[in-house]
Amino acid sequence: MKRTPEPELMQIPSQVKAYADADFSRSDSFVIAGLEKYLKKVGKILNKNDLILDVACGPGNISERVAKNWPFVKVVGIDGSKEMLNEAENKLSENHSKNLSYELIEINSIATGEIQFPFKADVLVSNSALHHFHDPLRFWDALKKLGKTKCIHIHRDLIRPDSLEKAFEIKEKHLSNSPEILKKDFYASLKASFTVDEVTQQLVDAGLSQLEVFQVDDLYFEIIGCI
Ligand SMILES: C[S@@+](CC[C@H](N)C(=O)[O-])C[C@H]1O[C@@H](n2cnc3c(N)ncnc32)[C@H](O)[C@@H]1O
Repeated sequence: MKRTPEPELMQIPSQVKAYADADFSRSDSFVIAGLEKYLKKVGKILNKNDLILDVACGPGNISERVAKNWPFVKVVGIDGSKEMLNEAENKLSENHSKNLSYELIEINSIATGEIQFPFKADVLVSNSALHHFHDPLRFWDALKKLGKTKCIHIHRDLIRPDSLEKAFEIKEKHLSNSPEILKKDFYASLKASFTVDEVTQQLVDAGLSQLEVFQVDDLYFEIIGCI
């Protein structure tokens, strides 16, 4: 199936609300577990001077988990949607995450150099982010600018199914009891996503081929490594 990009930023209030209210806890927890496992494998112990950036953080579900898991590390979630960041910021006081903050940043502007983030990250995390980018190389270029040398990466995203029928089937399987707006968004995301082969080629094109990409299950691939 050919890729159909969807709008990059998620700004429509009903869409943002449905996304922020959805329960993605199962797949979100895999990002944290994957990062923990990788840090252990490479013998990296995060310390208070380290910075973790959650790129295209949306309502902050991953940022919150990261901040809770590594409470002594500074965590910043960045996203270009004010509406999404409002959702994230509204939960900040509830979660007492003193090490977590959010910044409104359009990520293509980092890639082009129009905007510079003041600090370089030790760890770059993203979830369901890459497929939003009309030009995926912009996403990778931004990450290269955001990370320090020897930055640890973990990125997880949807895999584009082979056909519309398969995308429909996956949507019904995974979101059968969800609101219609979320189902519609999820279907659009499946169509906008990349295949593992496409991501492998993107990493080569971006000069990031040391990062490993692999299929996790019928829905997701993961990219992990240090660069
Ligand atoms: C599907 S949500 C994922 C949110 C979160 N990472 C999660 O796992 O739930 C995608 C997010 O990427 C953001 N986004 C997409 N393109 C972006 C860009 N060019 N700059 C900044 N944020 C972007 C959207 O606004 C949205 O919040």
